[in-house]
Amino acid sequence: MDKYEKVMDLAKRRGYLWSSFEIYGGIAGFVDYGPLGALLKNNIINKWREYYLVKEGFYEIDSPTVTPYEVLKASGHVDNFTDPIVECKNCLESFRADHIIEEAIDVNTEGKTLEELSQLIKEHDIRCPKCGGEFGEVKKFNLMFVTSIGPGGKRTGYMRPETAQGIFIQFRRLAQFFRNKLPFGVVQIGKSYRNEISPRQGVIRLREFTQAEAEFFVHPKIKKHERFKEVEDEIVPLLPADRQMDENLKDGEKVIKITLKEAVEKGIIRHETIAYFIALTKKFLLDIGIDESKLRFRQHLPNEMAHYAIDCWDAEIYTERFGWIECVGIADRTDYDLKAHMNHSGVNLEVFVEFDEPKEVETYEVELNYKVVGRIFKKDTKLIEETLKNMDNEDLEKLVNALNKEGKYILKVNGKEFEILSDYVKINKVKKKIMGEKVLPHVIEPSYGIDRITYCLLEHAYKEEEDRVYLDLKPSIAPIKVGVFPLVNRDGMPEIAKKIRDMLRENGIIAEYDDSGAIGRRYMRMDEIGTPFCVTVDGDTLKDNTVTVRERNTREQVRVKIDELVDYIKSRLKE
Ligand code: GAP
Repeated sequence: MDKYEKVMDLAKRRGYLWSSFEIYGGIAGFVDYGPLGALLKNNIINKWREYYLVKEGFYEIDSPTVTPYEVLKASGHVDNFTDPIVECKNCLESFRADHIIEEAIDVNTEGKTLEELSQLIKEHDIRCPKCGGEFGEVKKFNLMFVTSIGPGGKRTGYMRPETAQGIFIQFRRLAQFFRNKLPFGVVQIGKSYRNEISPRQGVIRLREFTQAEAEFFVHPKIKKHERFKEVEDEIVPLLPADRQMDENLKDGEKVIKITLKEAVEKGIIRHETIAYFIALTKKFLLDIGIDESKLRFRQHLPNEMAHYAIDCWDAEIYTERFGWIECVGIADRTDYDLKAHMNHSGVNLEVFVEFDEPKEVETYEVELNYKVVGRIFKKDTKLIEETLKNMDNEDLEKLVNALNKEGKYILKVNGKEFEILSDYVKINKVKKKIMGEKVLPHVIEPSYGIDRITYCLLEHAYKEEEDRVYLDLKPSIAPIKVGVFPLVNRDGMPEIAKKIRDMLRENGIIAEYDDSGAIGRRYMRMDEIGTPFCVTVDGDTLKDNTVTVRERNTREQVRVKIDELVDYIKSRLKE
C-alpha cells in the first residue's frame, strides 16, 4: 500500500472520509466526511475563521449556491470556465485531453489550443487507456453543473463554481456596510461545484467541495499593505513563473528562499498584499499542522492563469502519490469582476473614497443655457440642472470631452436619457476643492480548498511506529481531544471515568469514554484517530483523586488532580 492508500484505509475505517453513495456503487468526485472527518474539517474551518474574521477583521457572508445564468455569464464562467475534453470513438468514455496527453508523452500542454491538443493526440497516436480505441477531436467542456430555476426550465441556473461571485454581486451593499472605506475584506465559506471530466485523484479532485475564500478590496492605485511590515522578514519558498520556464535551471534550483521584503523589492511578487497573504497562508497552514518542508508557493505561468486573474501564487503541498498539489490560490483579480458585474447589471459599483485632505483641482462648472433649453427640456430642466451641478470631476471631464469631440453628450437621469448639445450649456473652467474620488476597487483573493488541505493534513500527520500507527494531529485540530478509560471495569472506576468524561464535555472539551479491551489496545485506538490525550482512572485515583494523563506522541504519563484536569487539558489544547 502506498501512503495514500494507507491514509484512506485509516480514514475509511475510523470515520474520517467515506466514498459517497457507496451502497449504490459510488460516483467519482464526491466524498462524505464521517463523524471524525466532519469534526476535523470544522476545526480547520474554525481556525481559518480565527485568522480571517478575528485577526484580519474581515466579515463573512453566506449566499446561495444556485446562481442565475446572468451572474456567471457576466463573470466570464459561462464562456471561459472550460477544460479540454476528448471522447473515445469506441467505448465513448470521456477524458481530459491535457491529462491524457501528459500521461502518454513528455510534453507540457499548458496554454495549448484545442487544435494543438487534437494534433498532439493524432501525431503520437495516443489511444483510450480503457479500450485502446481512437480518440475524436478535442472540444471545450464547461465545468459548471447546470440546473433550472423554477418550473418549466425557463430560467437557467448553475451550481456556483466558486464562492467568490456571491461576494462580488453584493459589493454595493458591502461597500455601504464598510462605509466606503478601503481596504476591506469579505469571506465566504461553503460548497462549490465543478463537473470535473474524469476525476481520478480520489479526494483531491472533487465535483463538490468546500472553499474558504477571502476577497480583499483595495484601492486600485495602492499596492501597499498596512501590515506587511509584520511579515516582511518571513522566508518563504517561492517558485516564480520565470524560473519555472528557465530550462537552464534544474528542478531543485527553481525554488528560491528569500524574505518577502526582498521578493517585493525585486518585483518577484508584484503586490504587497499578495505577499502579505502568502505569509498569512503559510502561518495558517503550519498552525493547523502542515509540514513546513512540504509547503511552497508557486506562481502561475502566464498561460495557466484563470480568465479573471493577472497574477496568482498557489500554496502547494507535497503528497506522496500526487506530488505537489495546489491547495490555496492567491490571485490578483484586479477590477475584472466588479467591472463585469457593473457593465452587465448597469449598477454602478464604484466607491467614493475620501482623501485625507481636500485637493484643489481644475474642473468645470456647467450651466444650462436657458435661451435654448427653455424650448426643449421643459419640465425636466430642473432635474438636469441638479444632475449637472452634482457631477463629479471624472464625469465632467467626460461631458466636456464629448461636447468638444462630438458636439453632444447623453446624460442619464433616473433611467431617462437626455441628449445635451453644445448649444444647451455654458462651460466655465474653475478651481475647486474636492474631497475624494470615485474608484472601482481591485480584488486580491486568497482562496482555500478545505478538502485538499484536510487530506494533506491527514497524510502529513500519518505516522508509523513498530507497534502502532498514529495521527500526529495538533491538539487544537484533533477531532476528539481526550480518551477517558477506567483501568479495569470494577471498584467504581467506570463510574468515575464517565463522570470525568461528562465534566470535560461540560467544559467544551470533546471526550470519549472507552472501557473495552486491554488498556494498551484502547490507547492504540485513540492514537490511530489522533486523540492527543488519554486519561486513565486507576487504583490510585480511588485513594488520592488523581488520574494519569498520557500524551499521544511521547506516550509519557503524568498524574493530574481531577480538580485540575479541565484547566490542565485546556492549556494543553492550545498547542
Ligand atoms: N475563487 C478562486 C478559485 O476558485 P481555484 O484555484 O479554481 O480558484 C481555489 O480554486 C482552490 O479550491 C484550489 O486551490 C483548490 O484547493 C480548491 N479546488 C479547486 N477545484 C477543486 C476540485 N475539483 N476539488 C477539490 N478542490 C478544488
